[in-house]
Amino acid sequence: MHFADIGRVPGDPILGLMDAYQQDTNPDKFDLGVGVYKDANGLTPILQSVKQAEQRLVDQQQTKTYIGGHGDSRFGQLISELVLGADSPLLGARRAGATQTPGGTGALRLSADFIAQCLPGRGIWLSDPTWPIHETIFAAAGLKISHYPYVGSDNRLNVAAMLATLEQAPKGDVVLLHACCHNPTGFDLSKSDWLQVLDVVRRRELLPLIDFAYQGFGDGLQADAWSTRLFASELPEVLITSSCSKNFGLYRERVGALLVCAQDAEKLTDIRSQLAYLARNLWSNPPDHGAAVVATILGDEQLKTLWAEEVEAMRSRIAQLRGGLVEALTPFGLAEHFAHINEQRGMFSYTGLTADQVKLLREKHSVYMVGSGRANIAGVDGTRLNLLAKAIAQVCER
Ligand code: LMR
Repeated sequence: MHFADIGRVPGDPILGLMDAYQQDTNPDKFDLGVGVYKDANGLTPILQSVKQAEQRLVDQQQTKTYIGGHGDSRFGQLISELVLGADSPLLGARRAGATQTPGGTGALRLSADFIAQCLPGRGIWLSDPTWPIHETIFAAAGLKISHYPYVGSDNRLNVAAMLATLEQAPKGDVVLLHACCHNPTGFDLSKSDWLQVLDVVRRRELLPLIDFAYQGFGDGLQADAWSTRLFASELPEVLITSSCSKNFGLYRERVGALLVCAQDAEKLTDIRSQLAYLARNLWSNPPDHGAAVVATILGDEQLKTLWAEEVEAMRSRIAQLRGGLVEALTPFGLAEHFAHINEQRGMFSYTGLTADQVKLLREKHSVYMVGSGRANIAGVDGTRLNLLAKAIAQVCER
């Protein structure tokens, strides 16, 4: 093979929308594609807590030397407390630890390599549908990928089918679960659903890999951690990927962590040695700046309070936009048809719009969303809800 033999692959289904949106000259365009939060002015703001933390770093940081395979240990401790709870017995017993990664995506890739190298033969079960990059990350690591039903063609959560499928999963396989704010659907499991999933996972001896990318965007910082903390406290072994892209607005700084919960401190040390080895081959040392910002915020009561208020403001704005969009669809007789938008959580809504309708929305109305019908509600301009509702109504009429 030579360069001449290499063809092209299609652009990323999500990131590609950013370019298409930017090139669109229609002043009434809507960006509901990639999962970034936008404020009332259509901007993805730098949080005040982040600005203040960055200023402190500029003034006080002493070095830019390498940070080590697991990253900033202070960040690791504080992000573990955020995810598992400051009073988590796992942290007290040194049964859990975090490895800093370039974003949640980096944590997923590290977990994929860890499973492939250290737990050979285990397949992974992904929800159908799931974030498309889950599919490619685990395939790239060579894992066998299977799917459990999650949301069907009726655009409803199907927990019974999910449980029945997991019941048949080979013992020891890995099951990827979305802690909250399911991407792409926005449909989350209830507490009683989670308890049933825990029961199957325990009986089938499955290894849960919990993707926790939206802490604070569903029902709140603590409420969103409920399922993750339940699994971590009930099971001997759990993997958790955490992202600071959305809740700290640090998207391009690439801040995330892979948390491992092991049966005891000794085993955790063994596993962490493997993770450092794998990370060395992937990115050597993780980028520092974003994680240093997060550690500065979480390690300071005043900054942490400010940050928690800012997360809550983003969360409640998204919830209002959900309600506002359904209200705007009411005059078109579509309130009931799209009532699920209000029930879903987090940034995304699986609208139920078909690929053809999504295409029409883009071509005729400059409304950009992912082909699956996923809309980033956090990107909706609240002052133009009527215009968006009108566009949706027009493509639904056809
Ligand atoms: C999304 O799903 O839009 C976000 O998670 C951003 C990404 O990297 O795809």
